[in-house]
Amino acid sequence: MTNSTIASLAHQPDEMQSPSLINSKRNGDIKAVNEWSEPGPAAFDFRSDTVTRPTEQMLAAIASTTLQDDDFQQDPTTLGLEAWMAELTDKAAGLFVVSGTMGNQLGVRAHLQSPPHSVLCDARSHLVTHEAGGVASLSGAMVSCVTPANGRYMTQADLEAHVNRGRLITDCPTRLIVLEIPLGGVILPLKECCRISKWAREQSIALHLDGARLWEAVAAGAGSLRDYCACFDSISLCFSKGLGAPIGSMLVGSESLRERARWVRKSIGGGMRQAGVVCAAARVAVEATFLGGQLQRSHAHTREIATFWETRGGRLIYPAETNMVWLDLEPVGWTSEQLIRRGAALGLRLMGARLVVHYQIGDEAMDRLQGLMLEILATGFVNHPGQSR
Ligand SMILES: Cc1ncc(COP(=O)(O)O)c(C=O)c1O
Repeated sequence: MTNSTIASLAHQPDEMQSPSLINSKRNGDIKAVNEWSEPGPAAFDFRSDTVTRPTEQMLAAIASTTLQDDDFQQDPTTLGLEAWMAELTDKAAGLFVVSGTMGNQLGVRAHLQSPPHSVLCDARSHLVTHEAGGVASLSGAMVSCVTPANGRYMTQADLEAHVNRGRLITDCPTRLIVLEIPLGGVILPLKECCRISKWAREQSIALHLDGARLWEAVAAGAGSLRDYCACFDSISLCFSKGLGAPIGSMLVGSESLRERARWVRKSIGGGMRQAGVVCAAARVAVEATFLGGQLQRSHAHTREIATFWETRGGRLIYPAETNMVWLDLEPVGWTSEQLIRRGAALGLRLMGARLVVHYQIGDEAMDRLQGLMLEILATGFVNHPGQSR
């Protein structure tokens, strides 16, 4: 099955979100069931943590937010969130942006001057696989991809082997390294991150972190936000994934980087007016979900799923270190398509072998998932050591 078939299967509309229902709603209609008060379909959705539903606490914060113009840099809620995020990450400045993609792309654009220049990153990273070629169109840069030798996370040795030093007229010199932590739920250990950072600084190569889910690595105890962020010149952090805000990310770095990113943000239509509406909810997401310890709950569920699968003979593609479980379907003879369809029949939304756990996943979904895993392991062939296929 092709990736586009999996994507179309996984993105079928919810019953309750069918086009006819959407068209029948008028702005301002008051619904009998308030969608802010419960996770709703998100409680059964393992496709991504982006499906988390904003909460009543966020709605209350939106209702009492300030409504000044952020393009004029006058909105206290937006400025307050930017300053607070700079403080949490121990960087000089923060810039609120609408998405993780925008945070990465502005970070890259702000670091790079003019071609010839190249960006070095993990071949699996969001920057190259899911950002619509933005590095090429916005920064005119070549992307060089590295596959980590250990199969899990990037090391300084991997980067050193692939860096382009720009010694020849035919070279496209590496000016920026972009790392992603966690990547596929797997953490780049802080010690290795510090090693990469020290080496990159010696080479005068800038470092950007796609920290969309850095919160998850911190919640897993891999290191503090400040320790990880100290390794990078810029970091993009998302509020709308496991933290549950409806919209938004933050780019942090130096003041000059922030001002350059602000300029580029404006040029691509990302300047916002009453940004307090979204920043108010984003602040609640950090306070209630991250600082409130909710990510630890989703990590406990992640470990439960991984242990359930492994103790019954199932294999994982990557270790379950944060909020993702990668089921190896090959030895059990299931395809992603079968998994998605069988999950849907059980009322679970899946996108394939990668299960993403978030804090709104409920006990009922956990039970159904365990039932599905038992079914897979019973009907499929488990390639136990000593058995041949
Ligand atoms: C690691 C990573 N970085 C960046 C993004 C982009 O975030 P957004 O969808 O808000 O553009 C995602 C989205 O899922 C992601 O997983």
